[in-house]
Amino acid sequence: MTHLRKGRRKYYDFFSHIYDAFIRMHSRQDEDDTRKFLVDAAHLEDQPAPRILDLCCGTGSVVLAFESCYPESVAIGYDFSHGMLGKAQEKNVTGRVIFVEGDAALLPFADDSFDVVTCSHALYELKGETRQKALREMKRVIRPDGYVLLMEHEIPQRPVVKLLFYIRLLSMGSKDAREFVKGGAESLKQIFARVTLNHSQTGKSKLMSCQK
Ligand SMILES: C[S@@+](CC[C@H](N)C(=O)[O-])C[C@H]1O[C@@H](n2cnc3c(N)ncnc32)[C@H](O)[C@@H]1O
Repeated sequence: MTHLRKGRRKYYDFFSHIYDAFIRMHSRQDEDDTRKFLVDAAHLEDQPAPRILDLCCGTGSVVLAFESCYPESVAIGYDFSHGMLGKAQEKNVTGRVIFVEGDAALLPFADDSFDVVTCSHALYELKGETRQKALREMKRVIRPDGYVLLMEHEIPQRPVVKLLFYIRLLSMGSKDAREFVKGGAESLKQIFARVTLNHSQTGKSKLMSCQK
């Protein structure tokens, strides 16, 4: 792992202590609706025991929402931050979700081994090459007609929030992160055969549903 990535991992370890409180403040209670939107988009209703992978899972909110909808599932949360995974494990009251520590650019899973792969509000934070590798890995591990669901922030409308959003992007120092947020679905079409763009009811997130 490069020095840069080690530094980012430490940053997320530190952030893990306030992450859930920060999200609650930012989302103003509509985080449950956003997660339901994501779970519904997976189209897993006909599968009693789906295999679910949540990449860059952070404190586990998305994968835990899937697991509570599909108690028979094999649900894995994957992240490179030990701190984030520790917080996720504290929320894993049923003990059914498996949390794995590792880099999104290199997944320790077999080809075609998941019914759905999710990555929520994280892809834009990955640096260019890491993001491309992570996307190829997602494509490799999803089953042929399964969905890779990528949830990202919309550009905020309210001026102050919009300013903070751009400061955050600038602080990440990555030109292509900004282009990715603006460009969205177009860049994904270079990797996936089918890409559909939808918007959450709250207007704060967009969802790219990708198939290989
Ligand atoms: C903004 S948080 C999103 C967390 C979660 N998906 C959510 O929606 O609340 C970004 C997460 O991506 C993880 N992450 C960043 N780069 C990563 C990488 N290269 N490999 C694995 N995880 C990574 C961070 O540790 C952090 O938990």
